[in-house]
Amino acid sequence: MTGDLAEVRERLRRASSVCALTGSGISAESGLPTFRGVNGLWRTHRVEDLASPAGFARDPLLVWTWYNERRAAHLRAVPNAGHVALAALERRSTDFTLATQNVDSLHLRAGSVNVLELHGHLREARCDRCGARVPLDGELAPDAIAHVCGGRFRPDIVWFGEALPRDAFARAAEAAARADVVLVIGTSGLVEPAASLATRAPRGDAFVVEINPEETAISRHADVALRGTASDVLPRLLAGESETAVAHGGSMP
Ligand code: OAD
Repeated sequence: MTGDLAEVRERLRRASSVCALTGSGISAESGLPTFRGVNGLWRTHRVEDLASPAGFARDPLLVWTWYNERRAAHLRAVPNAGHVALAALERRSTDFTLATQNVDSLHLRAGSVNVLELHGHLREARCDRCGARVPLDGELAPDAIAHVCGGRFRPDIVWFGEALPRDAFARAAEAAARADVVLVIGTSGLVEPAASLATRAPRGDAFVVEINPEETAISRHADVALRGTASDVLPRLLAGESETAVAHGGSMP
């Protein structure tokens, strides 16, 4: 991997525009489970019950019990060296966009600024009728699910069968299309349209780098695959630069 690391470092140094796409793998070393790996969320839970409008209509309390637990786990988790390195990379870049499929807010807590949350986030609940929002600092109590307008508060995330936030996805696609270097970190690349940011959006001469311990659906589209974990590989891409010494942690958004 040493030669590849050196090449990616050099490409990043020369790039005028960088786009990163992340998935749940980047938060694995912060103690949050992925979706499809061993102990992955979709191995032990039913997507159609917990992550679909129909599941929410059937049993909103079950859905909220699960998302309350996930939000609590996000708040307990701390950004890891991978999140921190991406924030440092943004600070030294002139044009840097981070498109994430994660709803855990760890990129923001690590200090990333230009973050596009393709699948939403769990910082707020949103009324499914009028769009009103309430912050999700603790858990949403069962008697707070009903909204006065007659609608119901739901997690402000994208469920299966739903469209991604239009503006966030359009900006991510533009960023991936103008990037000289596209970093794809910790995602299986199995969920569209997010995966297309790595497979279809980049220009033919863009340099696509996968950072993942395992081969994925993205791998054959990548110019280089760095086979390691995000918290190991990402800081090494910035090695020798003082900013990588930024402490882990960060404030709650
Ligand atoms: P997956 O569970 O499909 O994939 C996680 C990826 O992370 C795998 O390729 C792992 O090899 C990799 N991985 C594991 N540990 C890692 C580490 N320490 N460093 C780097 N990579 C590591 O999760 P996602 O690709 O995020 O959507 O899933 C995409 C979407 O599917 C999610 O956003 C979610 C889910 O259903 C919605 O909920 C809408």
